[in-house]
Amino acid sequence: MKAVVVENLSYRYQAEGLAILKKLSFDIARGEIVVLTGLSGCGKSTLCYCLSGIIPNCRGGIMEGKVLINGKNTRDSGVACLAEEVGMVFQDPDTQLFSPTVEDEIAFAPENMCLSPIHIRERVDYAVDLLGIGSLIEVNPHQLSGGEKHLVALASVLTLDPPVLVLDEVLSQLDHAGRKKVARALEKLRSQGKTIIAVEHDIKTAVIADRIIVMQNGELIRYEPRETLLADRDFLLASRLI
Ligand SMILES: Nc1ncnc2c1ncn2[C@@H]1O[C@H](COP(=O)(O)OP(=O)(O)OP(=O)(O)O)[C@@H](O)[C@H]1O
Ligand SMILES: [Mg+2]
Repeated sequence: MKAVVVENLSYRYQAEGLAILKKLSFDIARGEIVVLTGLSGCGKSTLCYCLSGIIPNCRGGIMEGKVLINGKNTRDSGVACLAEEVGMVFQDPDTQLFSPTVEDEIAFAPENMCLSPIHIRERVDYAVDLLGIGSLIEVNPHQLSGGEKHLVALASVLTLDPPVLVLDEVLSQLDHAGRKKVARALEKLRSQGKTIIAVEHDIKTAVIADRIIVMQNGELIRYEPRETLLADRDFLLASRLI
């Protein structure tokens, strides 16, 4: 079974508004890293909301077509049930950080699963070690840099151990060393069978991608192995991706 199946997905935020996503169809195998790119406003974040089930479960608007995550239709599953299948880190991390310390933030989800203190500790330590953020655990998340906030939000998501991860521009606010560290962490997660969809506006840094999706004005215009796409300089120049 494919980890992600998108079939004829269209979405508009308002019933009378413009279509923001236009008949997208693609699938992603288990254990694949797919980078999603395209110019600002082309619909990347909107697609992330659809992949994580926020659309249609928590937003209004009109969604047509379907999204299956490990065979579960996002329309029928409800967000609580989907949280076991897919975790998302938002482009604006402030929307998902609310605890007084980084440690509390990361422990929040496993605490709510009523795990034993030992298991909560294990999950928090695992995520903190994987992302190398041990030095931040006593800090207030709102005092962190944008890149660090993303890492904390990602650590929180990882404590739930979802098989599919949707990361909206998580690498973009990190410095070179931070990117390398997170890229290594994502490769490790892939080797454990996680499926990762990562939005990246800078295609040159999409080094971790197995395949790249290019969106333009709400449509999927290319979906190819990274090497094939990056070799097509004429296309990249014409679509202003480099
Ligand atoms: N809540 C909303 N209501 C109406 N239109 C919206 C809403 N959110 C986004 N849009 C519109 O949908 C389009 C796609 O936005 P989206 O945020 O998905 O693009 P994006 O590719 O993620 O852009 P960026 O690279 O700047 O993050 C834009 O034209 C945006 O103005
Ligand atoms: Mg966006």
